[in-house]
Parts: sequence; structure tokens; C-alpha cells
Amino acid sequence: MQTPYYYYDLTLLERTLDAACLASRPYGYCLHYAVKANADPVLLRRISARGLGADCVSGNEVERALECGFSPSSIVYAGVGKSDREIEFALRHDIFCFNCESLPEIEVIHDIACRLGKVARIAIRVNPNVDAHTHHYITTGIEENKFGVYLSDLDRVVNAVSEMPRIRLLGIHFHIGSQITDMSVFRGLCLRAREIQSRLHARGVVLPHINFGGGLGVDYEYPDEHPIPDFRAYFDTFSRFFEPAAGQQVHFELGRSLVAQCGTLIARVLYVKEGERRRFAILDAGMNDLLRPALYQAYHKIENLTSTLPALKYDVVGPICESADCFGKEVALPATRRGDLIAIRTCGAYGEVMASRYNLRDLPGTIYSEEGIFPCKI
Ligand code: LLP
Repeated sequence: MQTPYYYYDLTLLERTLDAACLASRPYGYCLHYAVKANADPVLLRRISARGLGADCVSGNEVERALECGFSPSSIVYAGVGKSDREIEFALRHDIFCFNCESLPEIEVIHDIACRLGKVARIAIRVNPNVDAHTHHYITTGIEENKFGVYLSDLDRVVNAVSEMPRIRLLGIHFHIGSQITDMSVFRGLCLRAREIQSRLHARGVVLPHINFGGGLGVDYEYPDEHPIPDFRAYFDTFSRFFEPAAGQQVHFELGRSLVAQCGTLIARVLYVKEGERRRFAILDAGMNDLLRPALYQAYHKIENLTSTLPALKYDVVGPICESADCFGKEVALPATRRGDLIAIRTCGAYGEVMASRYNLRDLPGTIYSEEGIFPCKI
């Protein structure tokens, strides 16, 4: 198989889905998969077959989710910039709920619903001003972010919505950030959600649904030790600190935690270059295949699948004409040669979906395995 390619361990995906479903079931939580993390049809079909809903952020994601077996009544659709065409598409397919981020957006949804003779179900995405303490590019729930309706604006938006006959307010929605491993952050979200909910109840606003978004992190450093995130600790936190109102359905939108560990980027070493101070392993995969290290300075574990020689230190880089095109500095790898296969781990989320054709390079390939073992020498 020509490198670079994304290798997906479908057995690990299934085990991860088992764990998430098992941990959420006692509380009756409704799980949606955040398609943005990985929109690969093979993965999506596995996930929809398990009865999860889909969380989408574009019309194309809604379309892909429908093609891959998610029922319209399980689809939620978020995003600060939904276009008229996307809104119309989602309304025509009767998706479950629009997660709305501003009053101007709700007004447009209302206009389009009137034109189509439909009723749009919405949740208001509230910016709860809870700091996720994660990388600033993936923190979304504090007031300096563009996301959601600010707390100070919430009453005004709720009042306006009550005047719109073709909008049905189902609930509130939050998403405070991604790669969160400290459960006390989610506890903070629960406490804030309680305050907001009682404030709305006091005004007679009943919310049959509440959606806490996603954000549960994974272990990038030790993927073999922790291949499956601690879903139990995550859902237990919500059950302890958030008591739903009578009959209220609690929703989640998990992306990374469901798919990150089942994906690995496999690349080949093109050249080893001995610099003055550094030794470079130059791969045939670049930042166009996996953007996370360049964009977020993200750590991914790197392994040489071919060599068993004593270790040396390498800067592992790609072929793109940018100094940011680096997967790891001073990485200890067994002595590495041209042709060795390299695995960049924990790439199932925000890997393939963020790939581009920068430098007019080809998009990476994909390979799927049911074997449950790492693909040493495919
Ligand atoms: N719901 C909403 C409204 C979101 O914006 C996101 C992710 C999720 C759910 C899923 O969050 P997760 O469970 O995956 O943390 N490209 C970045 C991550 C961006 C996350 C964007 N929103 C990265 O590679 O780290």
C-alpha cells in the first residue's frame, strides 16, 4: 500500500463505542457523534449502526451523515455561520435540532422555515463562560470566543424566539472546548448549566432537552496504555453534578474520544539527513496529511515500525516547504533508515478530515483493519 495512509483499527473503534454506550446507558443519555472529528464513511456507518446520532457543522456533513445511515431525527446541526442553502437543506430533511449561535441566525432560520412551511426545532447554544483550560485554539466557551449566545444576551434571545411561530425552542446547548482531561472542568459546566436552567425555569421556559457538547480528551502520550478514554468518569461527573428536570433528555456530542485512538498515520522515511546540530527523518507525510502538530503544537507519539536498532534522536519532519511541517522534535527512535515505516499515533480525530492538497500533494489513502492488532508491515 502506498504511503502515507490512515490506518483505522475498526476493532478498537467498536470497543470504544461499546465503552461509551455502556457508561452512558445507566443514565439514559443520548449520544451523538461529532462528524467533524472524522467523516470517513466506513467509520460513520459503524457508528450509526450503534444507534448514535450525528452532530454536524455543515450542510455537507448533514448530507454525509444521512448517506451513512444516521436518521434525520438523530441529527443536530451547529455552527456560527450556517448559510441559507445549508439551513434549507437541513430543514427539508427534518433534522432533529439546529444548535443556534445568535439571534440573527435564528431570524434567518425562521424566515426560511416560514417560506418552506416547516417548523424548525432549535436549541440555543449558550456561551457559559467556563474556561476549558485547553489549547486556546480549541477553547470555545469563554466570552472572548465567537461561539454561542452570551449569558448577558440570553433573556433577550429567548424573548425574541417566543415571538417566532415557526421556531420551537427545545433546549440549550453548550460546548466549551476539546481535549479536556480534567473532570473538574465538566463539573464547572454542570454547575453553570444548573444556574442557567433555573434562571430560565423561573421565567417559565421549559426545556425538554439539554446538550453538553463534546470535549472529552484522550491520552496522546500513552495510546497503548489508555486506548479507550474513561467514559465512566466523564458521564459519572454529569450524573453527579447535573440533575435533569423531569422528563428532560440529556445529550452529548463526542468526537475525539470516540475515534482518535483507532487511527494511525503510516508514513515512510524518504531520507535521513544529518544536520550540524540535528538529525532529520524526512517522511513522505507532511502537514497537509496531519495538521495538528503544526497548527496546535500537538504531540503525537511517533514510532518506527521497521527498525529494532538502538535509539537515536530525530526531528521528524515532512516534505512541505514550511518550517512548521514538523511532527516532533528530538524524538527518540530506533536508528532509522530510508524506507522504514513510521507510525504517528492517535490520529483518528481531526487527522484525515483536516488533510489538504497544499503543495498540490495527493490526499492520504485509508486502510481498515478488523484484526485488532497494529499493522506492523502492511
Ligand atoms: N460539539 C461542538 C459544537 C464542537 O464544536 C465540537 C468540536 C464537538 C462537539 C466535538 O468535540 P470533541 O468531543 O471532539 O472534543 N481540530 C481540533 C479540535 C477542534 C474541535 C472543534 N469542535 C484538534 O485537532 O484538536
